[in-house]
Amino acid sequence: MTLVRFISADGDAEMEVRAAPGARLLDVAQEVGQPLEGTCEGQMACSTCHVIVDADDFAKLPRASEEEEDMLDLASHVTRHSRLACQILVSPDMNGMRVTLAPVLE
Ligand code: FES
Repeated sequence: MTLVRFISADGDAEMEVRAAPGARLLDVAQEVGQPLEGTCEGQMACSTCHVIVDADDFAKLPRASEEEEDMLDLASHVTRHSRLACQILVSPDMNGMRVTLAPVLE
């Protein structure tokens, strides 16, 4: 199992989760009640699954596809380390990874 740490958008709360390799990060977050929408269920049509990966952990992820980059261009609060959680599959390399949820738009 791979340890993933979900950080709330305001940085006040952290939840440690053990995830099975191969699981989609969006599904892992939703299964433990993290407020990550994923409206299009991974069809890359919404960007509501946007997360910010800690800088040290970002390089452990495979590169984002062009399609993912295009969707991130449409998201709010994007940083250099933003990704779509529906496109991240948990791997052992990610053990200990910290992921901050993007602020929910009002
Ligand atoms: S769930 Fe819609 S882009 Fe990830």
